[in-house]
Amino acid sequence: MHKVLSYLGLGSNEGDRERNLRTAIERLGQTPGIRVLRTSALRESTLVGEGPKQDPFLNGVVEIETTQSAAALLAVCKALEAAAGRALPAKKNHPRPLDLDLLLYGDLRIDTRDLVVPHPELLARVFVLEPLLELGLSEELLRERCAIERPCLLTAQSELSAKCSEWLEGGCLVGLVPTMGALHQGHASLFERARRECDRIVATIFVNPLQFGPKEDLAAYPRDLPGDLRICAAAGVDAVFAPSPGEMYGDGFCSTVAVGREAETMEGALRPGHFQGVATVVARLFALARPHRAYFGQKDAQQVAVIRRLVKDLGFPLRLVECPTVREPDGLAMSSRNVYLDAADRRAAGVISLALRTAQEAFRGGERDRDAIVRAAVAVIAAEPRAQLDYLELRSDGDLLPQPAGAVSGGRLVTAVRFGAARVVRLLDNMPLVENSESSQS
Ligand code: PAJ
Repeated sequence: MHKVLSYLGLGSNEGDRERNLRTAIERLGQTPGIRVLRTSALRESTLVGEGPKQDPFLNGVVEIETTQSAAALLAVCKALEAAAGRALPAKKNHPRPLDLDLLLYGDLRIDTRDLVVPHPELLARVFVLEPLLELGLSEELLRERCAIERPCLLTAQSELSAKCSEWLEGGCLVGLVPTMGALHQGHASLFERARRECDRIVATIFVNPLQFGPKEDLAAYPRDLPGDLRICAAAGVDAVFAPSPGEMYGDGFCSTVAVGREAETMEGALRPGHFQGVATVVARLFALARPHRAYFGQKDAQQVAVIRRLVKDLGFPLRLVECPTVREPDGLAMSSRNVYLDAADRRAAGVISLALRTAQEAFRGGERDRDAIVRAAVAVIAAEPRAQLDYLELRSDGDLLPQPAGAVSGGRLVTAVRFGAARVVRLLDNMPLVENSESSQS
C-alpha cells in the first residue's frame, strides 16, 4: 500500500500535559497503518487568539508514515482527542487535554469542510514551525507547500466548476456572490454575510457584455482587478472567478434565458435586453458553481425580483439571500458608477435617498394614497436641477409588481435618476415603506 509521510501537531494545556502528549504518540504508533518515525522536542506556548484565561500549552510535532487516507487520519486524531478526555465538539480556544492537528500529508492539498492541508496556520505558529524545522524540513519547502493563494484567482470556467466540486464533495456549504467588480463596501457587505453563513465563498468579477445595450457604458465600466482582489482578501473570499468575455461566451455561444413580467417595466423598459443578459450570466454562474446560497443586493431590487423568479422557474437548488443596501454618509447608495459623478453631481446625488426618505416620512405620518406618496418623493428630486428623473414608482414589495392607485398598506419605492450632461450617470435606489423607523433604510 502507498505510504505517505505526514506530520501531526500536538498540544495540551490541561491535566498532565506531557503525559497526555506521550500517551497520544504511543497510541498513534499502535494504530494500524501508522508508524511513528520521529518526535520533536516538546516546548511551551501561550494561547493564540482570544479565549478564557488558561495555562500555557505544551506542544510538539510527530513525523509519521501512514497508509491511512488523510480523512482516516483526521478521524484517528479526533478519536485520540476524545480518548484524552476532550469534550467534542470542542469549544474554540478553551483549555484542552489534547489537540491533534494534521499539518502535512505528503504534498497533497486538501480543502474540505473539516480538513485543510497544509494546515493554514502552519507558518504563522512558531510552536508548529519550530518543531518542523527541528525535524529537518526546510523553511523554503514549507513556504512552497503552504503558498496557497487566498483568494485563489480562477479564470477558466472549468477551474470554477472544479474548485466548487472539490468543496462540495468535501461537504462544504458554498456561497456565490456575483459582481461586475470595481468593488466597494456594498459588495464587501455581501462577501461578509456570505463569509458568516458559508464554509467557502466564491466571488465572481465579470463585466457582462450581455447586459449592456449598444449605447451603454460597457467599455468605460470601471475595472480594477488588483484592487478588487485586495477587497476580496480582506473580506475572506476563498476564490475569485474573473473570466474574460471570450472565456464566458466562446465557441458559438447563443443560448439565453428569457425573462418575463418582473423584467418588463422600469429598468427593463429603459434597457431592453438588460435583464435577459443578467439572467443568462447568473444562470451560467449557478450552473458552474452549484452554490447552496447566492447573495444579491437589495440595492438592485428589480434585479433581485428577476433572479428570484429565475431560481423558482428553472428550479435552481439554492437559497437566494438578499442583503441590505450600504450607503454613503449622505445616504447615497454605494455603486460602482458613483465614480463617474463630478463633484457637483456627487453632492447633488444625495437627493435620491432624501426623496425616498421624504416619501417614507409621509407614509409614516399617515399618508396612504399611492400617488400622493410618489408625489412627495418626486417633488424633492424636481427641486434639484442637476437630477433628471427616469422613473419613481411605488411597487409591491418583493415581486415589485405595480400597485393599483388609491390606498396602499406598504410597498417599495423604486427609482432611477440621471445626472451629468456630457456623461450621463444613471443611479438606482429603492426603499421600503414601513411604519417603524428600524430597518427602514434597506
Ligand atoms: P454589480 O453592480 O457589481 O453588483 C453586484 C452585487 O452587489 C449585486 O447583487 C448588487 O445588488 C450588490 N450591490 C451593489 N451595490 C450595493 C450596495 N450599495 N449595497 C449592497 N449591495 C450592493 O449587479 C450586478 O453587478 C450584475 O448585474 C450581476 C448580478 C453581477 C450580473 O452580471
